[in-house]
Amino acid sequence: MRYGLRCMSCGAEFSPDEVVYTCEFCGDLLDVWYNYQSLNPDSLIQGWRMKPFGVWRYRELLPIRSRQVVSLGEGGTKLRRCDRLISWAGAKNLFVKYEGENPTGSFKDRGMTVGVTKALELGAKKVICASTGNTSASLAAYAAKAGIECIVLVPAGKIALGKLAQAIAYGAKVVQVEGNFDEALKLAIELSKKGELAYLLNSVNPFRLEGQKTLAYEVFEQLGMRAPDAVVVPVGNAGNISAIWKGFSELARIGLTDETPRMYGVQASGAAPIAHAFKEGLEEVRFVENPETVATAIRIGAPVNWKKAIRAIKESGGWAIDVTDSGIIEAQKSLARMEGMLVEPASAASLAGVRKLVQEGYIDRDEEVVCVATGHGLKDPNTIIEWYEKPLQAAANLEEVRKLIE
Ligand SMILES: Cc1ncc(COP(=O)(O)O)c(C=O)c1O
Ligand SMILES: [Zn+2]
Repeated sequence: MRYGLRCMSCGAEFSPDEVVYTCEFCGDLLDVWYNYQSLNPDSLIQGWRMKPFGVWRYRELLPIRSRQVVSLGEGGTKLRRCDRLISWAGAKNLFVKYEGENPTGSFKDRGMTVGVTKALELGAKKVICASTGNTSASLAAYAAKAGIECIVLVPAGKIALGKLAQAIAYGAKVVQVEGNFDEALKLAIELSKKGELAYLLNSVNPFRLEGQKTLAYEVFEQLGMRAPDAVVVPVGNAGNISAIWKGFSELARIGLTDETPRMYGVQASGAAPIAHAFKEGLEEVRFVENPETVATAIRIGAPVNWKKAIRAIKESGGWAIDVTDSGIIEAQKSLARMEGMLVEPASAASLAGVRKLVQEGYIDRDEEVVCVATGHGLKDPNTIIEWYEKPLQAAANLEEVRKLIE
């Protein structure tokens, strides 16, 4: 076997060709393993260089058999150096990985191209997810491309307008659940048990995270076959930080690098169970019952992947912190106004995190830092209209307009 599934706690193994999301013995999360010894680092890199830059360039490290994949051209996003932001963020070697460039405008597309391809391999006719917005937009698009049905459960009134519009436009059956994301996810898990009603594509699904880990491979290549000192990631359900760490640790395991980055997780203060666990020195995460933040994408109180995230942060030597809503908006504005990059509030949380991590001495000013900007700013125009200065208004009269702009 080239790859398989293994429980992160009890080590039980499962076939990658059956519908299984979590360990059938102890209920814990599953990891995808590969036969790493069979991979030669030199030939791996030679192979990569012959393929387009993006998720499927790294096929040898993806758990997919089919030659035909469900793709919209995901990954291959730019790593932008942000020199104008130095004075604001404090880090002198700051890069932003701009995931808003993905087909549906967020990093979720990396996971969904693999997840929906896997769904077809398993014979699924329907896919389902709970979502704070981006997952539903992405799954809806990939299900459309695959020609299968898509059901999404979203917290009513709590997802950004652009994301809701995307899910509707791509033809998903959208159910607004009168509750928060954590409640919607419980329902989606129940509805997808054994894949009977639909195949589940939340980040509890280990195959989806395999697509997301490719961000690490891309950053490694973009920095000239080197890992940065630190990677800063916004954390909601905690899948992405776990996936990115898996990517970097696999590069080390294969022998492509000796260095791996410290992983830093950033949560919004009103939804920060993982950051609190680090602050208080806890081994377990205490869930937040009524999470609240302007960054709706990370408005999650009970992150399903908390154990994987803690493992990633601890193994890498990193940390988790929280940032306030006003700090998030200030970071969003600074990135837009100093670098011309508009990201959604959840993504700006990572930049607010960089600033705080430098101020508090977790990251040295001279270190190389990659900040993951997870989603596009146009997804959530309402927050900008609500939080920013209002546009000026004038009569269609030269004198009046001149007075306003001078
Ligand atoms: C824009 C954005 N950033 C960050 C996250 C958090 O990712 P994760 O749930 O994998 O921690 C999400 C999840 O919905 C998101 O949409
Ligand atoms: Zn187990």
